[in-house]
Amino acid sequence: MPLDDRINAAVSRAISLSRGPAAPGKLSTCLHYATHPGGARIRPTILVSVAKACGDDQPELTDHAAAALELIHCASLVHDDLPCFDDAAFRRGKPSVHCAFSEPLAVLTGDSLIILAFQVLARATVDHPSRGAELLLTLTRCSGMPHGICAGQGWESEEVIDLAAYHRSKTGALFIAATQMGAIAAGQEAEPWYELGDRIGEAFQVADDLRDALCDETTLGKPQGQDDLHGRPNAVATLGVQGAYDRLRDILAGAIASIPSCPGEAMLAHMVRAYSEKVTPAMPARHRA
Ligand code: IPE
Ligand code: IPE
Ligand code: MG
Ligand code: MG
Ligand code: MG
Repeated sequence: MPLDDRINAAVSRAISLSRGPAAPGKLSTCLHYATHPGGARIRPTILVSVAKACGDDQPELTDHAAAALELIHCASLVHDDLPCFDDAAFRRGKPSVHCAFSEPLAVLTGDSLIILAFQVLARATVDHPSRGAELLLTLTRCSGMPHGICAGQGWESEEVIDLAAYHRSKTGALFIAATQMGAIAAGQEAEPWYELGDRIGEAFQVADDLRDALCDETTLGKPQGQDDLHGRPNAVATLGVQGAYDRLRDILAGAIASIPSCPGEAMLAHMVRAYSEKVTPAMPARHRA
């Protein structure tokens, strides 16, 4: 099965656990709306690619891990778009959940997706106690405090923000989860995979900051110029456009060099290059040397 289909099927299976005759209809619709169609599904793609590079001997467990990670990501976007965070009216080219439905439903959608993610992993623990428990622990670490998404979003309420800590926790954490959970699902040590996730995550946020500064809303599928509008620290403000492109190139070179030796090493290097081309915006003529 192609990777995209495999990931979409895993996410759909997870969402189906939240359905039932006793469930409130609108919230049920919201959970589907927030996860379908997906965006790039980059985190679960990395997770499954790392698992495959390590042998993927328990593919069902890998699928559960990939779905859980993507659910946390989708939840973070629903909450990030709320008026109390970025107040963004659209996401993935359609109205964000609070605009299409309501604020209470958007808060509950994020909450429900987070709980569902951990439910998916808890269920997987029955058949795979040791790997399942480690997957659970890794995803909690990358979602909460002090290192996860909650920490990252929490930095926005501080007077002085450390850009590296902010980026590492708001974005890097889920990429670290992606590489480490891929390895764990395939029965490998997580630790050697930290650096690759960390570097891909940093590159991804620099690319997101460049896109926020340089692309239009139709290309982005979400509002443009958000970082300046909300006064968020970002790579373009700190380094300038050329500096951010240079930084991106350096991080990606480091990411490829940090891939642990494994049977799928060349395939992973190819994936990192392909994704970096996809997410890096073309440099505008006025910034070319
Ligand atoms: C957006 O992530 C949030 C950031 C961390 C920059 P993605 O760009 O991966 O969002 P989707 O899932 O593809 O829409
Ligand atoms: C949000 O970062 C990252 C999380 C959702 C935790 P941004 O606020 O930069 O993401 P976008 O640009 O809205 O996708
Ligand atoms: Mg934000
Ligand atoms: Mg945002
Ligand atoms: Mg952004």
